[in-house]
Amino acid sequence: MEKKYRAHLLICAGTSCVSNGSLELRDALVEEIKKRKLEDEVYVATTGCNGFCAAGPLMIAYPDEIFYQKLQVEDVPFFVEEYLLKGRVVKSHLFESPEADQVIPKISDIGFFSQQILVALKNRGLIDPDKIDEYIARDGYLGMAKALLEMTPEQIVEEMKASGLRGRGGAGFPTGLKWQFCAAAEGSPKYMLCNADEGDPGAFMDRSILESDPHSVLEGLIIGAKAIGANKGYIYVRAEYPLAIHRLQTAIGQAKDYGLLGEDILGSGFNMDIELYFGAGAFVCGEETALMRSIEGKRGMPRPRPPFPAHKGLWDKPSVLNNVESLANIPQIIYRGADWFSSLGTEKSTGTKVFALSGRVKNIGLIEVPMGAPLRSIIYDIGGGIPDGKKFKAVQLGGPSGGCIPASLIETPVDYESIAKTGAIVGSGGMVVMDETSCMVDIAKFFLGRNPVVSARPAGREHSNSSRSSKGLPRGKVSLRT
Ligand SMILES: Cc1cc2nc3c(=O)[nH]c(=O)nc-3n(C[C@H](O)[C@H](O)[C@H](O)COP(=O)(O)O)c2cc1C
Repeated sequence: MEKKYRAHLLICAGTSCVSNGSLELRDALVEEIKKRKLEDEVYVATTGCNGFCAAGPLMIAYPDEIFYQKLQVEDVPFFVEEYLLKGRVVKSHLFESPEADQVIPKISDIGFFSQQILVALKNRGLIDPDKIDEYIARDGYLGMAKALLEMTPEQIVEEMKASGLRGRGGAGFPTGLKWQFCAAAEGSPKYMLCNADEGDPGAFMDRSILESDPHSVLEGLIIGAKAIGANKGYIYVRAEYPLAIHRLQTAIGQAKDYGLLGEDILGSGFNMDIELYFGAGAFVCGEETALMRSIEGKRGMPRPRPPFPAHKGLWDKPSVLNNVESLANIPQIIYRGADWFSSLGTEKSTGTKVFALSGRVKNIGLIEVPMGAPLRSIIYDIGGGIPDGKKFKAVQLGGPSGGCIPASLIETPVDYESIAKTGAIVGSGGMVVMDETSCMVDIAKFFLGRNPVVSARPAGREHSNSSRSSKGLPRGKVSLRT
C-alpha cells in the first residue's frame, strides 16, 4: 500500500546547491528526523536544480509549499523541532520574512517563481532526476510513446513544424524544418545528436536541464530519431559537467532497463542506442560541424557549409544536431500538441526560453519565460532588480556572438526578432546583468581577449578526442556523491 506522509521536504541537488552543502543538509535532516521518530511521517527527497541558485541550499516543504533558503546543517535540530514537531514556520530562512500579522508566503507568492512559465523546466525541483518512475509519473515518455506507436515520421515532422519551435542553441533555426531536410536526405545510417557543449560565458541552462531532468532530453532524442530515420544518438557533453554526466548515465541505464531505450522500444519495432561523448571544453566544439569532427576523433574545427549536416554530418552521413533545451521541449510538443506550444510566446518566436540570469541582479538563477517577455520584467519582477540600490546599466545576451542591450532599451520584448533589432541576439540564454559600476570597455576587452573564436588561440587545441570518448573517460572522474 502507498505510504502517506504528512510532509515532504524537497532538497535541491543541482550543482549550485550541492556545492553549498545541500547533500549534507539532506543527510542531517534524515538523521534528525529518525532521532525524533518522525521517519514515518516526513519524507526527505532530493530533486534536480530548483532554479533559484543564489538562495541555496534550498528546500521546499510540502504540502505547505514553503520555500526555505540558505538552510545549513547546524540549523537542522532547530528546524525539525520548530517546523516538524511544533508546526511553526522557521521565519529566519524564508525568502521574504512577513510581518507579524501577514500570512506566510508560499513558493507561488515569490516573484522569482510566479512570473515564470515552465515547459523545458517543467520538472525542475519536483522530481528526483535519478528516479525514472518520478519522470514517468509526470507524463514522462508519453510523447515518445505517441510518436513511436501512433505517428509516422512525416506526422512528427509536421507537428514540429506547426509548433514553430526554433533551435534554442543560438541560431534559432526551425527544428521541424531541420528534421525534414534530414529525413529526406539520401544516406544511411543517420544520426541524431544532442549539443550539450554549452560554452557561452554565464550560461548554465543546458547543464541544469541535464541535471534536473535528463530523461526529457533522451525522450526528445528518441522522437527526433524516429522522425529522421536514425537509430543511433550521441550526446556531446562537456567533461566539466560531471553531475550532468552522472545523471545522464543513470538515466540511460534506467531507460534501457524499462525498455524505453534499446531494441524494439515499447514493442514498436523501433531501435535506438544513445552514447555519451565527452568534450574537453573547447568553445569552438559547440559549433555543429566542429562538434561532429570531434566525435569522429578529429581536431574540432568548423568546416564551411554547405553541405549542411542534414546531408553530410557525422561521418558524412545525414545528421541532426539539436541543443539540450530544444530537445527538452520536444516530448511535450508531441504529447500536448503543436497548437498548445505555439499558443505560448509570440507569433514568430513560439514557446518559452530558458535564461541563466546572472551578474548584478538580486535573484541569480535559472528562469524560463514566454518568448516576448519584456526585459524589464525579467530583470525586476523575476530577478528582483539590482542589488545595493545601484542603477541598471546593460545586459549581455547571447555570449561572445551576442551584444549588450543598454538601459534605454529595457522595455524590449525578449524574442528573436525584437532582440535582433537591438543588435544583440537571444543566443543560447546567457543573460549577464550589469550595473552602473560595470565598465563597458572592460566587458568588450573580456570578450575580445578570452573569446576563442576571435582570439589567436588555436581552436580546439585542448581537445584530445581519443582520450575523451565515453569509454575513454575514467568513470572515477565523473563519479559523484548523490
Ligand atoms: C562557435 C560556436 C559555438 C557554439 N556553441 C554551441 C553550444 O555550446 N551549444 C549549442 O547548443 N549550440 C552551439 N552552437 C550552435 C550550434 O552550431 C548549432 O546551431 C546548435 O547546436 C543546433 O541546435 P538547435 O537547432 O537545437 O539550436 C555554437 C555555434 C558556434 C558558431
